[in-house]
Amino acid sequence: MNDLFLKALKGESVSRPPVWMMRQAGRYLPEFMAIRDNYDFFTRCQTPELASEITVQPIRRFGMDAAILFSDILVIPQAMGIEVQMKPDFGPYLPNPIRSTTDVENIKVPDVNTELDYVMKAIEMTLEKLDGEVPLIGFAGAPWTILCYCVQGQGSKSFDQAKTFCFTHPKAAHMLLQKITDTTIAYLKAKVKAGVHSAQLFDSWGGMLSPVDYAEFSLPYIRQIVQALQHEAPVIVFAKGCWFALKELSQTGASALGVDWTCSAINARYLSGGQITLQGNLDPARLFSPPEKIRDMVNTMIREFGKDRYIVNLGHGILPTIPLENVSAFINAVKEYRE
Ligand code: CP3
Repeated sequence: MNDLFLKALKGESVSRPPVWMMRQAGRYLPEFMAIRDNYDFFTRCQTPELASEITVQPIRRFGMDAAILFSDILVIPQAMGIEVQMKPDFGPYLPNPIRSTTDVENIKVPDVNTELDYVMKAIEMTLEKLDGEVPLIGFAGAPWTILCYCVQGQGSKSFDQAKTFCFTHPKAAHMLLQKITDTTIAYLKAKVKAGVHSAQLFDSWGGMLSPVDYAEFSLPYIRQIVQALQHEAPVIVFAKGCWFALKELSQTGASALGVDWTCSAINARYLSGGQITLQGNLDPARLFSPPEKIRDMVNTMIREFGKDRYIVNLGHGILPTIPLENVSAFINAVKEYRE
């Protein structure tokens, strides 16, 4: 197996850093769009044949050093009995958002092996298709980010309703966060058992919180998840906009931390204590630059982060309108990197 990714997670020295892209299984790929034309979003997630096929598509085309299972962070609230729709050209929509203590009390912690059995089947099928070529990453949303959708009911620039709920009903908010945490721990453990080699937690909306509120509403739950998982598989925590929490996150037991493009390599190394593996952080919009410029930026990024304890990635998910040749330039620049 190409073990660059797992070596980087262990902090071992590598000939070049590994590379993959958040949201690499997605809409910038014509072969993804062909499947999307025929099946709605959750059908793609729930059909192991489709989910595994979509997962390996970017690997076949570009040869990244890790695959990430095609799914969504919102399968967790769905399994907890909350209706989640994916509306074309709109995004996630939850018709009955959580707004009261009673709403939270009515939420169940499901048996993930029955409710999310389709994910475990997709993992098994993906591993067969990958045939040991590259490791497979499983993922989940951090509890705070999941709460954002459960309460807001849809995407938002401010997640004002989610924050209002936390600040006016803190007890209920913590009860909800704990239920999401318990479900997520069971879910990620099941994924590891099904064969994923690593797990990434996406705290996409962590940066909505002040450092003090992050320490109350996000960090303790991330810590619980990492501690429950760290001895079973390496965990990556990507907390977007959370440079202020890199120190605390580096002490959770995570094997690596994701960094977005607003934090320089030198600051990220300093804030995270200089030991832990870092992952990131090219501005996804920079993939619109000409291929030559992308190659230069990749080389600069590797020099700044260092070749070891580093996983090349974007600072957030790839945008749907990025040209394929620019993706090739990004991946190949890493593969051709020599000290
Ligand atoms: O990284 C990968 O390639 C694996 C697949 C993956 C998807 N969603 C597929 C998807 C992953 C890792 C996610 C995680 C996810 N989902 C996050 C965290 C990462 C991030 O981007 O912050 C979040 C916040 C969600 C919730 C979500 N799902 C939103 C906000 C949307 C709509 C907006 C958008 O970016 O498209 C989705 C839909 C979604 N999830 C799509 C894909 C490929 C696009 C819709 C479609 O394919 O029809």
